[in-house]
Amino acid sequence: MAGIVVSGTGLYTPPHSISNEELVVSFNNYVERYNAEHAAAIANGDVEALLPSSVEFIVKASGIQARYVVEKEGILNPEIMAPRIPERANDEISILAEMAVVAAREAMTHACKAASDIDAVIVACSNSQRPYPAVAIEVQNALGIEGFGFDMNVACSSATFGIQVAADMIAAGHARAILIVNPEICSGHLNFRNRNSHFIFGDVATAIILEKKETCVSGDAFEIVGTKLQTKFSNNIRNNFGFLNNAAPEGIGKPDKLFMQEGLKVFKEVVPMVSDMILEHLRALNIPGDSLRRLWLHQANIHMNEMIGRKVLGRTPEEGESPVILDEYANTSSAGSIIAFHKYHQDMKAGDLGIICSFGAGYSAGSVVLRKL
Ligand code: COA
Repeated sequence: MAGIVVSGTGLYTPPHSISNEELVVSFNNYVERYNAEHAAAIANGDVEALLPSSVEFIVKASGIQARYVVEKEGILNPEIMAPRIPERANDEISILAEMAVVAAREAMTHACKAASDIDAVIVACSNSQRPYPAVAIEVQNALGIEGFGFDMNVACSSATFGIQVAADMIAAGHARAILIVNPEICSGHLNFRNRNSHFIFGDVATAIILEKKETCVSGDAFEIVGTKLQTKFSNNIRNNFGFLNNAAPEGIGKPDKLFMQEGLKVFKEVVPMVSDMILEHLRALNIPGDSLRRLWLHQANIHMNEMIGRKVLGRTPEEGESPVILDEYANTSSAGSIIAFHKYHQDMKAGDLGIICSFGAGYSAGSVVLRKL
């Protein structure tokens, strides 16, 4: 992998933030209405009463304080509890591409790259706008980039898988520089009526530019020391939404067509899987865990990150070593570790090592070891 660099990143943060307090008021309002409407059935045992959510639980269980969303009113309206994002005409840019373009422009500025320097666009994210045409081709068109583009989805690990794919393509000579974008409207797949998970996601877009070291003119670039990817099938995080739903109308609108998870199982299974993968990766690269200056981890749960940080470093991470952005952004799927990288690398010195690591549905996990140039 030597010779490929991350020369720029970008971030688009949606304009609206929802606090835990606002979200819980809306959820508990829904619970009260539901229980009142079903009072008779609840009383005779035919229906289970819904339980309220609480701000204290959310903060304690996850570390999340707030989340950004592209649309707020629909989510907080107890009669809707979903974002309301009007359809756009085919000759207008789609919202996913629009977010991606804002993040991409920042990454291109950071990397000092014009559209003519870039040969490919990868949209790597958990939920696509549509099956086709690929959103990447729309982003490519909006930015005036020649070459090719394609979409890929490895859920929360889409960005790290995208980085390995792009690095391999550059190393093989198929492109000089590649733009990877991660537009995530996680509020679109979140079941805001599910008490166990209504608080976990937010919306955002991130962008990353990869290129060869010899073309890099950015003063703030990182060389890719190595990448490692891993997948292991699990149903513990699943979403059955897809194009065949139309062929099975009995399932349309059911809760399994949104994000579902067995949160505790995910927690227990993913922490050892990811810690072992990182340690194995570092061993193969001859890098001691405690020599990493920074861990830019997937941002789903503060306790998962603390446990992974301890296992990788062999001690409790010090202030700033494993930056947390999930308090402000919640889980933004593939974008989380990239937001952490984007916001928390500027103090690093030439030669400093860090690791971007994602993990999530699949299960999937990706590790990218970086050295500051
Ligand atoms: N408000 C108040 N209490 C709640 C609640 C809420 N919104 N949701 C659940 N609870 C209660 C449950 O009823 C349960 O109570 P009990 O012990 O009396 O039965 C208790 O809290 C624990 O519930 P559980 O669902 O086991 O929560 P948890 O401690 O596992 O935390 C997650 C939930 C989702 C925060 C946590 O499991 C997690 O983050 N897992 C990993 C998520 C992840 O990385 N997913 C990847 C997605 S890409």
